[in-house]
Amino acid sequence: MIKYVVNGGRELSGSVNISGAKNAAVAIIPASVIVEGVCHIENLPNISDVSLWLDILASLGAKIRPMGPGGVEIDTTNLNRTSPSPELMRKMRASYYLIGALLGRSGRANVAMPGGCDFGDRPIDQHLKGFRALGATVGIANGIVEANSDGPLVGGHVYFDKVSVGATINVMIAAAKAVGMTVIENAAKEPHIVDLANFLNSMGADIRGAGTNVIRIRGVSKLRGGSYTIIPDQIEAGTYIAAVAAAGGDVRINNIIPKHLESITAKFKEMGVKIEENDDSLRVIRHGGMTGTNITTLPYPGFPTDLQPQIAAVLCLSDGMSVITEGVWDNRFRYVEELRRMGAQIQVDGKIAIISSIKGFSGAPVCACDLRAGAALIVAALAASGQTVIDGIIHIERGYEDIVAKLCELGADIRAVDFPSGNPVMVTA
Ligand code: EPU
Repeated sequence: MIKYVVNGGRELSGSVNISGAKNAAVAIIPASVIVEGVCHIENLPNISDVSLWLDILASLGAKIRPMGPGGVEIDTTNLNRTSPSPELMRKMRASYYLIGALLGRSGRANVAMPGGCDFGDRPIDQHLKGFRALGATVGIANGIVEANSDGPLVGGHVYFDKVSVGATINVMIAAAKAVGMTVIENAAKEPHIVDLANFLNSMGADIRGAGTNVIRIRGVSKLRGGSYTIIPDQIEAGTYIAAVAAAGGDVRINNIIPKHLESITAKFKEMGVKIEENDDSLRVIRHGGMTGTNITTLPYPGFPTDLQPQIAAVLCLSDGMSVITEGVWDNRFRYVEELRRMGAQIQVDGKIAIISSIKGFSGAPVCACDLRAGAALIVAALAASGQTVIDGIIHIERGYEDIVAKLCELGADIRAVDFPSGNPVMVTA
């Protein structure tokens, strides 16, 4: 069993390149199904969620051809199956995008309910409401979502009761080739929503308003293939800012879009972290102390829930008391118990965490319960005195490309170690 072993207490320095955005990649790959042609996609992150998606599309009959690092050609011309394997589908949250993609392409989808990180109840009622507004019949039986339409989908008006990234993406994909106009109101505005719209438009779709709360999709009869480059991952970039803030040091973070990081950089600056912004990079410097602050996570452009655990680890090391209010998920504080093993003093009451300042973390054996929880444990471990052993790294590898190598390059002492029978055997530096 592979675990990460971190000897903390080293400042970080140098530069790190940010990979393509996971949450854009996991939407754009299934969106290639509706294209019914050849899509050449660049800047894909090398993470397990992307490999899983490529396996799922291959299992449905798509042809997948790797095109060098970060590049892949997906030919969905002859994709001919509408029931992907439930085992594969349950391994990932974003697998529900196949419902919109298959429904929009062939008027039929039989897809297992998705898996992914457990933050409490993760309903998909808004997705289903959107498909129904396009004329589909949708039901869930024995853990399988069955969606059907007699003939092509027909554009409709969808008003989401709640801002949902997934539902916005799913309906955009399904509506790309529907007959007539679809209007999505109360749409999510995340950068990956805009990236998906740009991808589909570059393949011939007619989608306007992505990035605002009203998106208009005029259905087209045909999409053509083409090439597209995925945006950089703002959450990965934010995680490296958190790592420098926690461990101290001076690091340049390359290949980013500063605009996507505004709510994140503003908070770290408020805490006393020095951040210099350039066109496509940031320099993050932290040598002195930091002050605590209050944070409420919200849909974009608010502070992202996907960076809440990482900044919580930094707030533990900041002076004074901090309060985090989780505004997106019901149960996103499961990592707190693990941070407490390292000395954190955090009280959780429902969706609120009150964080008291501590002098420092101390290394301990801990376990990542989900992707961003794992990132928070790494952030804490980099700053800790002594050794931290992080279990559950399968979650981390779903979303962070080469995190061990990237941190080593910055001077961290982190290794992936195989613990076959209690005796560690080093496998990567
Ligand atoms: N919701 C509903 N009904 C729905 C859909 C969502 O009530 O039909 C609720 C959810 O329960 C939640 C809120 O709406 O309370 C927001 O959920 P959303 O649909 O926006 O989340 P998601 O699409 O399932 C994506 C990201 C998550 C990220 C959230 C919020 C992907 C694959 N996942 O999830 O990313 O936390 O948006 O920004 O894009 C991560 O990367 O670590 C991660 C979990």
